[in-house]
Amino acid sequence: MLPQTQVGKTDIRISRLGLGTVKFGRNQSVKYPQTFELPSDADAKQLLHLARDLGINLLDTAPAYGYSEERLGNLLSGERKDWVICTKAGEAFRHDFDGTGNSQFNFEPEAIRSSVERSLRRLRTDYLDIVLIHSDGNDEHLIHHYQVLHTLSKLKKEGWIRAFGMSTKTLEGGIICAREADVVMTTFNPSEKDDERLMHSCAQHNAGVLLKKVFNSGHLLKPEYGTTTINAIIEQQMTGIFAQSAVNSAIIGTLNGQHLRSNVECALMGLAANSKLA
Ligand SMILES: NC(=O)c1ccc[n+]([C@@H]2O[C@H](COP(=O)([O-])OP(=O)(O)OC[C@H]3O[C@@H](n4cnc5c(N)ncnc54)[C@H](OP(=O)(O)O)[C@@H]3O)[C@@H](O)[C@H]2O)c1
Repeated sequence: MLPQTQVGKTDIRISRLGLGTVKFGRNQSVKYPQTFELPSDADAKQLLHLARDLGINLLDTAPAYGYSEERLGNLLSGERKDWVICTKAGEAFRHDFDGTGNSQFNFEPEAIRSSVERSLRRLRTDYLDIVLIHSDGNDEHLIHHYQVLHTLSKLKKEGWIRAFGMSTKTLEGGIICAREADVVMTTFNPSEKDDERLMHSCAQHNAGVLLKKVFNSGHLLKPEYGTTTINAIIEQQMTGIFAQSAVNSAIIGTLNGQHLRSNVECALMGLAANSKLA
């Protein structure tokens, strides 16, 4: 079973891996190496139950992930308390009949508030555990001009959300978010020196850290490598991830139960390798 960790200053406890649910709800205009069909309700439910049995309690979704929130709302009926749900605001996605689909962005305070209200309805819940601003890349502008963190902080005070932050795209945005919010979601890139500065800042301010795209949306794991090599790459990634003491959880997207099992096994090995090194 995967262990859990406390998210920064909050009272939220999450598993060291989370399940990303882009692929539950959106297969248009995505950057994965292979095309895919959205899973059936039965397959999605089976995957969620497998995740739960493996110790995963964190689900990451967003209005930008197409039907993901609505589907989770259906699939988690009666199970809300078993899960920590992280969703986002600021970007939404609409599927098009021509197969392309497109995103719309709106970071005005009223738009963020209505997005949170819509997420509550779609997810069929009266609270959201974590809400992140879904950055369009202009992190600092969103924070300073649109006051997005302030808007989420008000929603937290009103009791709609338990924790807030931003899925960032810049080092500067991450550092401000570490100082002013509960949670930073950042791309894991072990070769980037920026990571060290961001992790230091998160540790200094006791901000929670969630990692996204740890397999570079699947491009790191080419099927032609074969399972043994792929699992060795995953184990190496997990060892690198959990060497960063500020990291709470790595969110991994998969529709494949066997991949989910391997990811959890490799995460346990990565955690064990770091506890031996400590
Ligand atoms: N906030 C943001 O801006 C943002 C942006 C991107 C992502 N995210 C979040 O982060 C999550 C993860 O990011 P991501 O989905 O882009 O990429 P990722 O987790 O780096 O990679 C996912 C891809 O890797 C494949 N994969 C997973 N485990 C595997 C294994 N053991 N062996 C072989 N292939 C494997 C999956 O395919 P299979 O389905 O075949 O396993 C999937 O196509 C998302 O689902 C989302 O929740 C957030």
